[in-house]
Amino acid sequence: MSKPAFSTLLSHVGRRFDETIATVNLPVYRASTVLFDSLEAAAKAGHGASAGVGERHVASYGTSGTPTTFALMDALVELEGAGAACRAALMPSGLAAISTALLAFLKSGDHLLMSDSVYGPTRMFALGMLERLGVATTFFAPTATAAEVAALIRPTTRVLYLESPGSYTFEVQDVPALAALARSRGIVSMVDNAWASPVFARPFEWGVDLSILPLTKYWSGHSDVLMGAVVVREEHWPTLWRAVRELGMCVGGDDAFLILRGLRTVEVRMHRHQESALALARALAARPEVGRVLHPALAAHPNHDLWRRDFTGSSGLFSFELDPALFAAPGAAGIDPARVARGMVALCEGRRHFRIGYSWGGYESLIMPGSIAALRSAAVWSGGPLVRLHCGLEDPADLIADLEDGLAALTASLVH
Ligand SMILES: Cc1ncc(COP(=O)(O)O)c(C=O)c1O
Repeated sequence: MSKPAFSTLLSHVGRRFDETIATVNLPVYRASTVLFDSLEAAAKAGHGASAGVGERHVASYGTSGTPTTFALMDALVELEGAGAACRAALMPSGLAAISTALLAFLKSGDHLLMSDSVYGPTRMFALGMLERLGVATTFFAPTATAAEVAALIRPTTRVLYLESPGSYTFEVQDVPALAALARSRGIVSMVDNAWASPVFARPFEWGVDLSILPLTKYWSGHSDVLMGAVVVREEHWPTLWRAVRELGMCVGGDDAFLILRGLRTVEVRMHRHQESALALARALAARPEVGRVLHPALAAHPNHDLWRRDFTGSSGLFSFELDPALFAAPGAAGIDPARVARGMVALCEGRRHFRIGYSWGGYESLIMPGSIAALRSAAVWSGGPLVRLHCGLEDPADLIADLEDGLAALTASLVH
């Protein structure tokens, strides 16, 4: 046999697949193309991974998964599914997980019931693409009872979408009652479980059909990877998988590896986030500049009893309201937006430990003012200016001192 040419060698050298060693972590598969030894094997894999079939862990092409992404899917089923018969699919961001889940279960002419305090882009997706596709959405107050939500159900209602606690305003929903209502009416229930993660909440024990996990947050824990997952009861898997395949939703092996690495420490980190956030929430509650502290694990929170019933802990994310009286112009009543803007700059900029940044769930602390009024339609927001904090893994005493400096700077900025 003649020796292959240099250009042929370039395609073949160094590709030995029989060398494996046992390492603590799985190797990373980076793949678009998957190779087969026969046409029959290729056809079998292609069929198994196809939109209408969705067999477990069939690698036909990079978009249907690799051993690295399958390992993460298995981990999510065990941790989030916690014994329920579930399957998991991975998406390139938390928002992609939300939009894929909604697109999978809704079609033109359908009706969606959505909690008013969902993550802003979730609301925008309902009011944007879903509306353009002919799906009508009704928003309901996040603390609405099952009877109140039942009154909004139409013959065309297909999905009930929840997020508990709500984004920025942290209302805790009675998810078990709402999920039971949905089930009794043949409606698919979904919940965004970003805040608590399975460390502190088990949505399938609440009775929901589908849980959305922005893995970008606590699962990653290091603010360097974007990913989302949908974990769904087995009976709904074919519907979800069809949408995943039709939309081409998939993730790369390197990112899946980073989430697998992050999850090893998620429980330890969550306990530290919890402790620090509670220390900060209590310190803030005692400050004269602060109105309400919106943290469900504080006894004063209006939904504290629901939180105690349904969650086993709390995370590093909460908000607080500033006293509206601080922002009234001298001699005038009501909040002066220019004073709010000035005060927020003084509070948020120049902090030593809290940085300004969207997102949360990493090891670092973040601060961000919230503009909530435009993101609520069923439960009108009438509180004072809102600030959201993510408490990272720094020493809580340093974080408290940093915020106290910020509040002093805010007051000083409003003297005139
Ligand atoms: C509650 C909640 N759900 C979903 C998401 C979306 O996740 P991602 O940033 O990965 O798209 C976010 C992001 O901030 C969030 O706060």
